[in-house]
Amino acid sequence: MVFLAGLAAFVAASVALTDASLAGLLTIPNTYGNFSGCASQPSVFSCENTTAIKNTCCSPTPGGLVLATQFWSTYTGLEKFGQKLPKASWTLHGLWPDNCDGSFGQYCDFSRQYDPAPSPKTLTPNGTVIPPWTGPNVGTFVKAFRRFDLLDWMNKYWINQGAPNADFWGHEFSKHATCTSTFDVKCYGDDYVEHQEVVDFFEAARRAFNMFPTYDMLASYGITPSNKTQYALADITNALTQQTGAVPYIGCSHNGTALSEVWYFNHVFGTEQYGRFKAVNSTTKSTCSSTQPIWYYERTKTSETEVRFLP
Ligand SMILES: *[C@@H]1O[C@H](CO)[C@@H](O)[C@H](O)[C@H]1NC(C)=O
Ligand SMILES: *[C@@H]1O[C@H](CO)[C@@H](O)[C@H](O)[C@H]1NC(C)=O
Ligand SMILES: *[C@@H]1O[C@H](CO)[C@@H](O)[C@H](O)[C@H]1NC(C)=O
Ligand SMILES: *[C@@H]1O[C@H](CO)[C@@H](O)[C@H](O)[C@H]1NC(C)=O
Ligand SMILES: *[C@@H]1O[C@H](CO)[C@@H](O)[C@H](O)[C@H]1NC(C)=O
Ligand SMILES: *[C@@H]1O[C@H](CO)[C@@H](O)[C@H](O)[C@H]1NC(C)=O
Repeated sequence: MVFLAGLAAFVAASVALTDASLAGLLTIPNTYGNFSGCASQPSVFSCENTTAIKNTCCSPTPGGLVLATQFWSTYTGLEKFGQKLPKASWTLHGLWPDNCDGSFGQYCDFSRQYDPAPSPKTLTPNGTVIPPWTGPNVGTFVKAFRRFDLLDWMNKYWINQGAPNADFWGHEFSKHATCTSTFDVKCYGDDYVEHQEVVDFFEAARRAFNMFPTYDMLASYGITPSNKTQYALADITNALTQQTGAVPYIGCSHNGTALSEVWYFNHVFGTEQYGRFKAVNSTTKSTCSSTQPIWYYERTKTSETEVRFLP
């Protein structure tokens, strides 16, 4: 058995080597949709259309209020497995299609339910149970498309707390992306390959995350993590509003005293995948105290890792 396990490891290593040397010869499948039907449609910012959007592959419908959401947390709980937080960066939470009025749907397509621990467990108002996913984690979908570059990025910036990262990615896709029309399977054409839109959504979430470099935007206004100095909500809000053009939602834990989340609201011209995001004001009131000073905690040192270069 030991010999066989050793042999298996050797074979796996050889395959990896062969993969690397063959990479240039292999075809990496594309994951983009078929939006050629959009060429004849009027393009408008989502939530700003004055007539009905006919081809829903061309603009997020409903769910035209697109939120790029991020976390600031100080630990993951899975540090011993190497699941750490990226130094000098916030982490990706998700890309959410809210309705134009700020309400939202969730788990809109059970045939694409990849969340092992649905939250909530049931749909309102009818109590339909959301079936937990028991298949392979969605990281395997990314690997099947040979997008190791994307997977590597996701493991650096899209970090879960208390459970593996891939569980969180599956949660985000099934809870939110199934409610966005531009990720509908029908938008991927006749040559659709299963899970193509899942990988495409992960790409889109990464792109939106990179539009809002929260850590740098705050740091450039002198707001950096500190366990000694606190900040006023007005200063945090101002730094982000000045640089994005709209007021984001700013979330706090610990009774409104510890900065933990930012949501950037947008109208999107075109698709969520490739369209232009225009920041709009939050429809949700901040949960941070506007009277007490706020902590922007430094992370636990052993919970952070350098991601800006390969060591
Ligand atoms: C915008 O398009 C959606 C989807 O077709 C439609 O439901 C909505 O009524 C449209 N808005 C207006 C003001 O026509
Ligand atoms: C339960 O409610 C959801 C909306 O929250 C709806 O999409 C679904 O079709 C409903 N299911 C049943 C069985 O009525
Ligand atoms: C792409 O969409 C166009 C327009 O709807 C359609 O004519 C074409 O057949 C589609 N291509 C594929 C590969 O599905
Ligand atoms: C929040 O405030 C309540 C009431 O003042 C207190 O009981 C609770 O411990 C506080 N929670 C935290 C996380 O500080
Ligand atoms: C967004 O909020 C800012 C700051 O409160 C305000 O000045 C601006 O008018 C708001 N924009 C819209 C479109 O409501
Ligand atoms: C800063 O404070 C937070 C919250 O108490 C703690 O989790 C973290 O470990 C502290 N970081 C450092 C570097 O002391």
